[in-house]
Amino acid sequence: MAQSVRIVAQRALPIHLINPTDIMHSNLPRHLNQPLAIGTKSIAKRLVLAPMAFLGHVAFRELIATFGGYGLLFTEMCSAKSIPQENRFVSPYFKWRDEERPLLVCQIFGAKPPLMAAAAQRIEAEGFFGVDINFGCADGSICRQNCGAALLKDPELAGRIVAAVRKAVAFPLFVKFRTGWKDDPHLAVELARRFESAGADALTFHPRVAPDRRTRPPRWEYITMIKQAVSIPVFGNGDVFDRTDCWNMLRATGCDGVALGRMALARPWIFAEWSEGRETDPGVYVDTPRNLARLLMKHYDPPRALRRFKRFALYFSANFRFGHTLYSRISKVRNMAEVEDVLRRFFSDPPDVVSRPNMNFFSG
Ligand SMILES: Cc1cc2nc3c(=O)[nH]c(=O)nc-3n(C[C@H](O)[C@H](O)[C@H](O)COP(=O)(O)O)c2cc1C
Repeated sequence: MAQSVRIVAQRALPIHLINPTDIMHSNLPRHLNQPLAIGTKSIAKRLVLAPMAFLGHVAFRELIATFGGYGLLFTEMCSAKSIPQENRFVSPYFKWRDEERPLLVCQIFGAKPPLMAAAAQRIEAEGFFGVDINFGCADGSICRQNCGAALLKDPELAGRIVAAVRKAVAFPLFVKFRTGWKDDPHLAVELARRFESAGADALTFHPRVAPDRRTRPPRWEYITMIKQAVSIPVFGNGDVFDRTDCWNMLRATGCDGVALGRMALARPWIFAEWSEGRETDPGVYVDTPRNLARLLMKHYDPPRALRRFKRFALYFSANFRFGHTLYSRISKVRNMAEVEDVLRRFFSDPPDVVSRPNMNFFSG
């Protein structure tokens, strides 16, 4: 049953480029609801879920789908090497609900053009909206295999990967990348042009250098440079945490759409709020973790469901003034019954919800 929560204003909205009231009540939804052509297809809304390893799984996507308001959802990254022979009913990563395919993009990582092409062919045959090539992940385990952001050090190979995938499939091909390994936007612009000429249909650009684990602010002005350098759609990404950020990113950079990562974890209903101007019942803070726990148990075995719930809990806890208490309790539980118990106790008194999530949780 939905319980009440207290919303506390943590700090005043920053004064940015324009009057925030105008944004919230009319301009932002209007802007986000303009259709956007991507290769051979088009999307109805310009706010999309960014790919997130171990978090953008089928259960979380089902949760987001209950609220709606997004243009596309991206899967967590999947290994291109495994995809051609993967069993979707066994794999924890390459897993989907049939209903979500029309708006679902599968992200793949890999370093070999033929393997990436074969993976994309399977994804196309399964009926996904598109495929996304991961040139953004800077995690050691991925970069050591020369995948993810490591490929930004080898633009020629990265370009060949995009070209091989392009040749293999006709559906929309996305490339997600970062500034690179040096804080030089000109290199990022060259990469963007290379991806476009190799056949990419859209780019998602996160303007941070690869070693930066989301600590320093992203350089949104680099998104402007990328947008101006190519003629395919560009999704801006990085540190969009409220409507004002979203509006400012769109207006200041000219990007075609916005990809939301951590904010979607903290508030999976954010797409509906921002793109449809829908007001959300405060009880959503109480119901959402329970609903995700239930969906995780539906799609995964109990240990994996619990591990994934704990990862989500870090970002969701950022919503509460005493979120550290919630997260520290969740991180110690041994099963989903204990999760339920922690949630019941935490929500037994209306919790204080902060207007903008606590960034300390977001650097995890
Ligand atoms: C926990 C976590 C996992 C991520 N995994 C991926 C990934 O698998 N592939 C990818 O391209 N980006 C990944 N990212 C990066 C996000 O897609 C996004 O670029 C980044 O979080 C910045 O956006 P935000 O400020 O909206 O969170 C991940 C980010 C987080 C927080």
